[in-house]
Amino acid sequence: MDLLKIAVIGGGSSYTPELIDGFIKCYNEMKVDEIWLVDIEEGKEKLEIVGNLAKRMISNAKLKTKIVLTTDRKEAIRDASFVLTQLRVGGLDARANDERIPIENGIIGQETTGAGGFAKAIRTIPVILDICKDIKSLSKDAWLINFTNPAGIMAEVVNKYTDVKVIGLCNVPITMKHNIAKALDVAVNRIYIELMGLNHFVWGKRVFLDGKDVTDIVIKKLCDGAGLNMNNIPDLDWDPRLLESLGMVPCPYHRYYYMQEEILKEEIESFRNKGLTRAVEVKEIEKELFDIYKDENLNTKPEQLEKRGGAYYSDAAVSLINSIYNDKKDIHTVNILNNGAITNIDNNVVVEVNAVVGKNGPMPICVGAAPNSIKGLIEVVKSYELLTVRAGVDGDRKVALQALSIHPLIPSFSKADKVLNELIDTNKQYLPQFK
Ligand code: G6P
Repeated sequence: MDLLKIAVIGGGSSYTPELIDGFIKCYNEMKVDEIWLVDIEEGKEKLEIVGNLAKRMISNAKLKTKIVLTTDRKEAIRDASFVLTQLRVGGLDARANDERIPIENGIIGQETTGAGGFAKAIRTIPVILDICKDIKSLSKDAWLINFTNPAGIMAEVVNKYTDVKVIGLCNVPITMKHNIAKALDVAVNRIYIELMGLNHFVWGKRVFLDGKDVTDIVIKKLCDGAGLNMNNIPDLDWDPRLLESLGMVPCPYHRYYYMQEEILKEEIESFRNKGLTRAVEVKEIEKELFDIYKDENLNTKPEQLEKRGGAYYSDAAVSLINSIYNDKKDIHTVNILNNGAITNIDNNVVVEVNAVVGKNGPMPICVGAAPNSIKGLIEVVKSYELLTVRAGVDGDRKVALQALSIHPLIPSFSKADKVLNELIDTNKQYLPQFK
């Protein structure tokens, strides 16, 4: 049997112990031979700290998996069966700018969508395409499992510009499932959500408990204040009239759209009064996390990691890889080409939907048509994503301006123009394509 080698690009991330924990739990079903954690020169210190913790976790679990720490991306990718990307171009400082600059311009500052997400996308696109080149030359049959945000845009760019086998993955769908199970007080494996939309922009069209449609009950629970959120999003309650009229379950990130004014007010106040954005908070949490990771007696995933937004990240990732590796043909929510899943959306664009996953990869499950209440929104955000892909590949400012002008979180052309100039200027060292 071939060696099962996994390359993790951005291996020095504070989330890595989460991933290692997932591989440990799954070892009976999938014996990973080697996990290569890769990072860039600047990330070497973090890579060492988190990598040594990963080694201790593996040895504590008495497994044979070899952990390799390296800054040589090509060596890590060579002959890997799976390449996982969880990188952050420019680190948390760049994220802080992505959140601050829009807020200073009076618009939502979020790292994965709107103007901030756009900046993250154009910084990341050249790097992801470069990684794809390495995959093609060093391990052409490898699966690229991408978590790097904006995950939908990354899956789109890889599909459009390469023939690497890619699956975009996010923890929002699995978190929704867990939150709903909690609200109904049932085991999570009894819940099935028919999801449709885009990454960080997905709705649960119907929710089933043991095969019975319980969408109305879930909506009622949400109206009564059942939590359906993640740590990184302001915890504003849904207006029951919104949920009842929608008749579907929005994802936590929809707060930025349906409650744009309220969130913006909160963001502006917390920035003005305390200089706070989520990136500033995350920097603090990271400091604490890396201090904990340094402790040589620590050999399991520390609970402080739960303060981050990445809940269930390892479950989603490892079970997806397991399904491909062991040809399980079970269902996952993934970012892949639509190919008929949402019947009234273009077949050739990436959407976030359920798919049956086995060794041939994901096969999308048809979820029917998107109702009018969300169809136009999906299309406008998808158009923004497609324009962002083009801008990010070609370095075309005009296309970039169109992308930002149509985004629902950016209210006017003049704001789009101003924020674009500031973002490109601030990020110029990461934007070779815009030179
Ligand atoms: C959620 C999102 C992820 C995102 C994370 C940020 O989990 O689904 O895509 O990366 O939040 O969390 P953080 O703790 O970095 O703010």
